[in-house]
Amino acid sequence: MNVVVTENYEEMSVAAANVIAEQLKAKPDSVLGLATGTTPIGLYAELVRACDAGEISFANAQSFNLDEYRGLPGTHDQSYRYFMQDNLFDHVDIDVEKTHVPDGSMEDAQAACDAYEQAITQAGGVDLQLLGLGHNGHIGFNEPCDSFPVTTHCVELTESTIQANSRLFDSADEVPREAYTMGIGTIMKARKILLVVNGSGKAEIVRDVLRGPVVPQVPASILQLHPDVTVVLDKEAAAAL
Ligand code: F6R
Repeated sequence: MNVVVTENYEEMSVAAANVIAEQLKAKPDSVLGLATGTTPIGLYAELVRACDAGEISFANAQSFNLDEYRGLPGTHDQSYRYFMQDNLFDHVDIDVEKTHVPDGSMEDAQAACDAYEQAITQAGGVDLQLLGLGHNGHIGFNEPCDSFPVTTHCVELTESTIQANSRLFDSADEVPREAYTMGIGTIMKARKILLVVNGSGKAEIVRDVLRGPVVPQVPASILQLHPDVTVVLDKEAAAAL
């Protein structure tokens, strides 16, 4: 693993955006795996700036997001599709037809997940997967459990994730209880992985993920087994290493 420690959130965002920018320069038709959440907002802003400045282009790229709430249409302002439009897709030259987010409005969970997994395979797999990290070690919506889920699947969210996400809704009652997410196997098939983490609240889980045993109770610990992972931390998130 290549671990990069930066001074603060802004430097972390630029360093992580540079990894994606380099990927696009090396392979303009890259298949990017993308994430939502508060962590990547700064790096998406940096990518928008770089695209505006003509330094990079998404014109030939495709994207697959990690996850989406089940039951929220893409027009809902807390859906991950909406987040991606708002933070990245609406501001860069990507073809929206080539951006993929699991379809939260699909009732049939199995069909939604199978279609998503198949679309990733048909695209040739993910070249670079961006990940944030949950306080409990989750990646995507792969929560701590007794075995690593393999493919895209429907999950029940844990109480801690519902509470963490409730800040974005009017109340915890409004947070959807289920989500569609790439599996750990889907994530591990990406050719490169970029994990981005900031803040002192995640210092201990960062230590467990990078230095602890590889166990499904800490889902992101499996990244230790991936051959090409870059981890970009601010110094607060790196404090327990
Ligand atoms: C988002 C995702 C989640 C987040 C994680 C961290 O698509 O899959 O795993 O990356 O919950 O979220 P933030 O960045 O809000 O702390």
